[in-house]
Amino acid sequence: MARKREFDIILWGATGSAGRRVAHHLARRIGNGPLKWAIGARNQVKLEAVRDALPRTGNEVAILIGDSHDRSFLDTMAARTRVVVSTVGPFALYGTELLEACVSNGTHYCDLSGEVQWMRAMIDAHQSEARETGARIVHACGHDSIPSDLGVQFLQEAAMQRHGKPCMRIATRITRMKGGFSGGTAASFVNAMELRETDPDFDALSTDPYALCPKGERQGPEGPDRMMPVSVTYDEDMKAWTNPYFMAPMNSKVVRRTNALMGYAYGRDFSYSETAMTTGGPGGWWAAMRHALFGRAFLIAMAIPATRRLLERHVLPKSGEGPSAETREAGYYELIQIGEMPDGTILKARIMGQGDPAIESTSRMLVEAALCLAEDADRISVGGGFWTPASALGSLLRDRVSEHAGLKFELL
Ligand SMILES: NC(=O)c1ccc[n+]([C@@H]2O[C@H](COP(=O)([O-])OP(=O)(O)OC[C@H]3O[C@@H](n4cnc5c(N)ncnc54)[C@H](OP(=O)(O)O)[C@@H]3O)[C@@H](O)[C@H]2O)c1
Repeated sequence: MARKREFDIILWGATGSAGRRVAHHLARRIGNGPLKWAIGARNQVKLEAVRDALPRTGNEVAILIGDSHDRSFLDTMAARTRVVVSTVGPFALYGTELLEACVSNGTHYCDLSGEVQWMRAMIDAHQSEARETGARIVHACGHDSIPSDLGVQFLQEAAMQRHGKPCMRIATRITRMKGGFSGGTAASFVNAMELRETDPDFDALSTDPYALCPKGERQGPEGPDRMMPVSVTYDEDMKAWTNPYFMAPMNSKVVRRTNALMGYAYGRDFSYSETAMTTGGPGGWWAAMRHALFGRAFLIAMAIPATRRLLERHVLPKSGEGPSAETREAGYYELIQIGEMPDGTILKARIMGQGDPAIESTSRMLVEAALCLAEDADRISVGGGFWTPASALGSLLRDRVSEHAGLKFELL
């Protein structure tokens, strides 16, 4: 890729709920430093309002107006920058042409996609071209799946340092989480439910635990991923009850892809799971059961077209809507990861995040991923292709999100 382009970073989708926060944090982080950046979307008036509200840094921010389906505009845009960071989703609806433009032009790219079917299709269609052009493509750079993916890598590095071997099994427990939900996330969920009705491969891919792994590398010790089964289990190590976590199937697929892309650094028999956790005792069991039943009921309501339409109309946030400033600031989350060594030794890590996971923490992590692609380009050890956060950016990104995005990784 050309080292010098007009821009270092273009943020695509700056008028959306996540995009506005990404724009804010990019402005803050770039300050009046040397990086040249621009914001883009389809609506000039909205985009100018976003630019006018940015922190004043003295660094001029250009504006680009275009449509996500206009391939020739997107080609020109991708050729003008070294990195594109996109928040225009659902990505299966609005992301394909931009991703293709980035691959063709050797432009690095990161996004907030948690859409397994779309990511699989993009990998299959464009992996070899991305290798040739040198475009580094990194999906899932928000709360899904950076804390899980970088957390597992952090724990495995500790296992290697202490015991010379990786953990054979890691279980992530989401122990605390407070925050909101944005319109784009709701739209991605609705789109997945609609796809399920029309795409005969949807269920097979959703339940395949290795759906994101390279071809020929889709086997291992895991059973099928299931969306929100009503299952409550007791965690002996944590002395607490656990229930299904709705993003677990997606985060787990990303972690398994990382393992495969890193030449099975965690081992071929590595097993990974993710659940939410309550407390011990009957109160903990009942809380876990309530969450499991609510999740199952919500999923059933989303799967039925009539109730899905009602939820869309009256309950779910609309495009552009998201948590209030107070909710964003007051939000937080905590993950405990429990690793088991082949001899039964247990290692634990804690990952904590400040800010609501859906928008605030997600935006700050995405900003660091984009800055990592732009500023650390010479230190990233992998070339062009489709990567995960941990396999492409690893400790470079971990240091960045720890220093600038309110995350903390610690061994317990
Ligand atoms: N991984 C995570 O942790 C995480 C967290 C939050 C969000 N997300 C994902 O991030 C995505 C965005 O979420 P959000 O809540 O920010 O969504 P949103 O508020 O609906 O924003 C969508 C953005 O896309 C733009 N857009 C839509 N259609 C377009 C088109 N044809 N051409 C150009 N721009 C177009 C919108 O422009 P207008 O303003 O003009 O409508 C807006 O800027 C979703 O896919 C969501 O699932 C992921």
